[in-house]
Amino acid sequence: MNTHRPRRNRKNQVIRDLIQENTVTVNDFIFPLFLIEGKNKRSEITSMPGIHRWSADLLLKEVEACMKLGIKSFVLFPNIADKLKDKKATESTNKKGLYLSTIREIKKQLPEAVIMTDVAMDPYSSDGHDGLVKNGEILNDETLEILGRMALTQAEAGADIIGPSDMMDGRVGYIRDVLDEENFTNVSIMSYTAKYASAFYGPFRDALDSAPKFGDKKTYQMNPANSKEALLEADLDFSEGADFLMVKPALSYLDVIKLLNDNYSIPIAAYNVSGEYAMVKAAAAKNWIDGGKVRDEILLSIKRAGASVILTYFAKEWALSHKK
Ligand code: PBG
Repeated sequence: MNTHRPRRNRKNQVIRDLIQENTVTVNDFIFPLFLIEGKNKRSEITSMPGIHRWSADLLLKEVEACMKLGIKSFVLFPNIADKLKDKKATESTNKKGLYLSTIREIKKQLPEAVIMTDVAMDPYSSDGHDGLVKNGEILNDETLEILGRMALTQAEAGADIIGPSDMMDGRVGYIRDVLDEENFTNVSIMSYTAKYASAFYGPFRDALDSAPKFGDKKTYQMNPANSKEALLEADLDFSEGADFLMVKPALSYLDVIKLLNDNYSIPIAAYNVSGEYAMVKAAAAKNWIDGGKVRDEILLSIKRAGASVILTYFAKEWALSHKK
């Protein structure tokens, strides 16, 4: 007879629950929210059904509604009007501008909401790139100065976590120094450590009209074929003072999440990106898959791979469908 019969541990739901190794909870989520100019405005993103761009007043209400569901962390992305975009992303440090004024307002009205910001030039750049462009090249060290100013103004506005998503070399250390010099030693950095040059970002670029005006992002975002390079990026970000290491996208990079979790003592985050969300929504709309079950399985797999934090567009619907 078989000594080991693994099915004994699967024989009923109670035992299955007893031996369950990983669980997703609402505490794991950071919910990305898109911001637009105006008042009382809400527009759905065509390629991301169920996800909207919100004007500041409605975004505030959305944050409040999410908090009632137990979602307490948010990452904000602004949709900037074309006429405000320029080569140096000047609008990114405008204290009266859409992004910084909204962060200030949220932290004033809902101080217990944890707000993560995005540091990269693309939403504000007339070139649609994450860094400063000169003669078709993305300049590294010149970009750092701009990113440092962005991070500082975001910290001043009340950001709890700064999220550099630009992939310039040395940005975590540079931003850490700028923040510390201005006494923002308590502001965290969640570095987009292993951010791949991915086609899964398509719907996000639709949401923000932020697609590159020329070329691609392959001179700064990583080659999807590589994993050793993720270790190098992680070494740098860890030694430059990152508080969290993020892998992005999540689903095609579960091995990278595991690799970083096995090798670093700080928490690993994963960004379940726009294209990953869109695929599930599209297939579910055709009744080709059960969207809710696939969503739950995906989130669990990201957790199992080793992420303790998940940035996901599914956060609110997950919270609604798991309401006790
Ligand atoms: C910008 C940024 C991107 C995403 C987050 N920050 C897009 C990009 O790098 O082109 C993508 C998020 C998503 O697809 O959900 N630096």
